[in-house]
Amino acid sequence: MRIGVPKEVKDHEARVALVPSGVAALCEAGHEVLVEAGAGEGSAITDQDYARAGARIVPTAAEVWSGAELVVKVKEPQASEYGHLRPGLTLFTYLHLAPLPELTRRLLDARVNAVAYETIREADGSLPLLTPMSEVAGRMSVQVGAQYLERQNGGRGVLLGGVPGVAPAEVVILGGGVVGTNAAKIALGSGARVTIIDRSLKRLRELDDIFHGRLITLASNVWTVSEALRGADLVIGAVLIPGAAAPRLVRREMISRMKPGSVAVDVAIDQGGCLETSRPTTHTDPVYLVDGVVHYCVSNMPAAVPRTSTFALTNATFPYIHLLADMGLDAAVESSRALGEGVNTYRGQLVHPGVAESQGLPWRELASVGDIERGHF
Ligand SMILES: NC(=O)c1ccc[n+]([C@@H]2O[C@H](COP(=O)([O-])OP(=O)(O)OC[C@H]3O[C@@H](n4cnc5c(N)ncnc54)[C@H](O)[C@@H]3O)[C@@H](O)[C@H]2O)c1
Repeated sequence: MRIGVPKEVKDHEARVALVPSGVAALCEAGHEVLVEAGAGEGSAITDQDYARAGARIVPTAAEVWSGAELVVKVKEPQASEYGHLRPGLTLFTYLHLAPLPELTRRLLDARVNAVAYETIREADGSLPLLTPMSEVAGRMSVQVGAQYLERQNGGRGVLLGGVPGVAPAEVVILGGGVVGTNAAKIALGSGARVTIIDRSLKRLRELDDIFHGRLITLASNVWTVSEALRGADLVIGAVLIPGAAAPRLVRREMISRMKPGSVAVDVAIDQGGCLETSRPTTHTDPVYLVDGVVHYCVSNMPAAVPRTSTFALTNATFPYIHLLADMGLDAAVESSRALGEGVNTYRGQLVHPGVAESQGLPWRELASVGDIERGHF
């Protein structure tokens, strides 16, 4: 199969969908890979790196899109890319179609078979192509928190680990899932005192085991959150209720009782945030103050570390890319139910109920459309 890797065009997007090791593995398996010149630049991967791995470097996006049967990307197609969409093309990328009716219509009209990273779901309910970005954001949350705790950045002037004779910082993490666990690892590694609050006792038990009691676990309720925040230097928002807006665990009055110069990093801002005082910010202008508490609410944190994020993402996407390349979409979907969950549009039909529901559009079961009908999906 011919696989195309265009350079990302979304504002500030510096990740790329395939790395040289992936190119080498696909070429080894007999496939051909077209990479747009400069596609890896933002992730510090050169055209020479790709060429050495066996890719053909092509000068324009148009040549990548028109020459490939499978296009792999990071972000959803932008308006400037709509002209490249065509019948029969398989597109594999983050799509987040629910709030994008225009793009949904374009994909349906152009009869593109679009597979979304974010809706691929394994049998245990996990979302394997979202996990790596949560790992990145979780680890970064402590790094940025430490930075904004510094006096010259508006913080209280506290070093996370303290020093002998001086107490370390108190880090409170709301939500002990992927983001929260990764935040805890880095905070503990820096020598901070860490408390994780989660509503799942099962999860708290697991965390207690994983960290051998090196952190405090607390059951989530208004009282616990309020008391924990009073003593916190850094609070990290990492709760998620899948498919719903983040619960607003932290009320305005809790923020006003926090220590002046303490820092709140609300990673859950992409689902609306878990602090009443959170509003989305950008890497260009990442923080603002509420009642003396520094708020960092950047909704695409991994964009700040594109090289790490690119490798983390492609480690997770590559097995599916390989499957799509080896088998083609129809057979790949029949062999992997998880991949099937990723298909959002197929042969001009919307086949994902979540996207259909959020846009008030009709949808069909993937298995009832086209060739997959005859398969065992
Ligand atoms: N800002 C960014 O750049 C960025 C990057 C990656 C992920 N995220 C977001 O971070 C959030 C967390 O992601 P995740 O992968 O860790 O999710 P996850 O599902 O792994 O973990 C969420 C945790 O929150 C807990 N929780 C739910 N409701 C709670 C409540 N009321 N009180 C306490 N705990 C509660 C759950 O029990 C679970 O353990 C998501 O909104 C995700 O989209 C943001």
